[in-house]
Amino acid sequence: MKKVFGILLLALLLLLAACGEEETSSEDTGTDDAPAEENTEADEETEDSGEEEATNEDGISIGFSLDTLQEERWQRDRDLFVSKAEELGASVNVQSADSDDAKQISQAENLISQGVDLLVVVPHDAEVSASIVEMAHAEDIPVISYDRLIKNSEVDLYVSFDNERVGEMQATAITELVPQGKYVLIEGADTDNNAHLFKQGQMNILQPLIDSGDIEIVYDQWTKGWEPEEALANMENALTSNDNDIDAVIAANDGTAGGVIQALAAQGMDGEIPVSGQDAELAAVQRIVEGTQTMTVYKPIRDLAERVAELAVQMANGEEIETSTTVNNGQIDVPSILLDPIAVTKENIDDTIIADGFHSEEDVYQNAE
Ligand code: GAL
Repeated sequence: MKKVFGILLLALLLLLAACGEEETSSEDTGTDDAPAEENTEADEETEDSGEEEATNEDGISIGFSLDTLQEERWQRDRDLFVSKAEELGASVNVQSADSDDAKQISQAENLISQGVDLLVVVPHDAEVSASIVEMAHAEDIPVISYDRLIKNSEVDLYVSFDNERVGEMQATAITELVPQGKYVLIEGADTDNNAHLFKQGQMNILQPLIDSGDIEIVYDQWTKGWEPEEALANMENALTSNDNDIDAVIAANDGTAGGVIQALAAQGMDGEIPVSGQDAELAAVQRIVEGTQTMTVYKPIRDLAERVAELAVQMANGEEIETSTTVNNGQIDVPSILLDPIAVTKENIDDTIIADGFHSEEDVYQNAE
């Protein structure tokens, strides 16, 4: 009897061991296949979820090549895109180029050689990134231009916000407060096609006031790499070269607005000079509550990221994407989807940014008196 019992126990243990073994092997497989050059959060998640890995092997694999994670928004874009794409059964390999063209191109090359089914690209340089589209198409890999347009290429789809409208919103908010006077323009990075669209939108509103002599542009500068420190230095030059005699600043995003307001604060002028922004960064929304920044342009990133994740999976499955809009990129009319931005001032923060849960009420009003 004891002997029979012993044999049964042994059999049971072996069975358990066999089960244990099986688990290990699928994880192992996962780990082996997936590691890309630079493991980001998304990769680690993908690696950890061994089961998912099994699914992904026959599922869609997407390469997400970002210019940078410098601004708060890009981290949000990454996380929302990855979680939606994974929800749809795809795996995502995220690469950030730290605003370096050569790095972005080699990362894209790496993603292509790993055999991704589709590339989503936020280009650092609108022109230089055209070579990424050529490389991808040589391997029949479609490319989606995310938020920023890739110029002079056969890119397959462009999804963004109406960026000219963003510029119009910035200039409208500031000219309503300062219909006459001396203006400083602190623009974005001229390598970024969006920076040119923001400026075009601003000039749609400013030009008639310039022509009528109501306002004068006394300083106008692109900001290398959208870096706040560069915006700070440019704004210091603008103040020095105009003996602090300026009335308004149009800054292209919240990062540059932060640099501008630092320069104004050093002259005791913060809160007196209206300043625009974009991206609804937490620090900027707090500045709007405190009164040192006038407005920001809120772009619901979840709508963009989730829409592109859905379209990426559809395209990777070979589905045709119909769009009602096209944008000419210098080579073709790119099928495009442009989402609506939202102008935000102190008056509508609660109904927009907080209502959407983009930031919590507690965080936004933490410095409010
Ligand atoms: C633009 C983007 C903005 C801003 C900027 C800096 O292309 O549309 O939201 O963040 O880049 O990265």
